[in-house]
Amino acid sequence: MNEELFLKQAEEIMNAEPWYVASMSNLSALMMQSLEELNWAGFYLVRDGMLVVGPFQGKPACIRIPAGKGVCGTAVAQDRIQVVPDVHQFPGHIACDSASESEVVVPIHHGGRVAAVLDIDSPVRGRFNEKNTAVLGELVRRMEEKISWEG
Ligand code: SME
Repeated sequence: MNEELFLKQAEEIMNAEPWYVASMSNLSALMMQSLEELNWAGFYLVRDGMLVVGPFQGKPACIRIPAGKGVCGTAVAQDRIQVVPDVHQFPGHIACDSASESEVVVPIHHGGRVAAVLDIDSPVRGRFNEKNTAVLGELVRRMEEKISWEG
């Protein structure tokens, strides 16, 4: 993966249309094509205290995840990035796609609160290293600056 190119393309996507639905849709596609060995890449949105599935690429996924549940809900409850090298070792992991072996979830903030999470899954155990995680953290930082949550 070319991290610089990936972040540049992400910026272009958000500059072209900052509306969160359009941006998240194209950013899901960008993650899926730029990162090797993924089976799911996308977003969950916080609505009425629950996570609801948003734009993504991959197999149909769980629609609602309560805060505090699974990897995504834990990222929201703790407001911390979750890097899970082996999902089978994560208590309460929610298996939407049985192919998933490792996962990263990054909280996305708006108005001082977690408004969404970025979630990526891999069929390879231990797929995500510090470098991958840092790039996803940087993507989310730029999303927090650029994305429009209106409408
Ligand atoms: N594995 C996640 C659920 C979402 S899917 O990975 C798309 C979790 O435990 O929260």
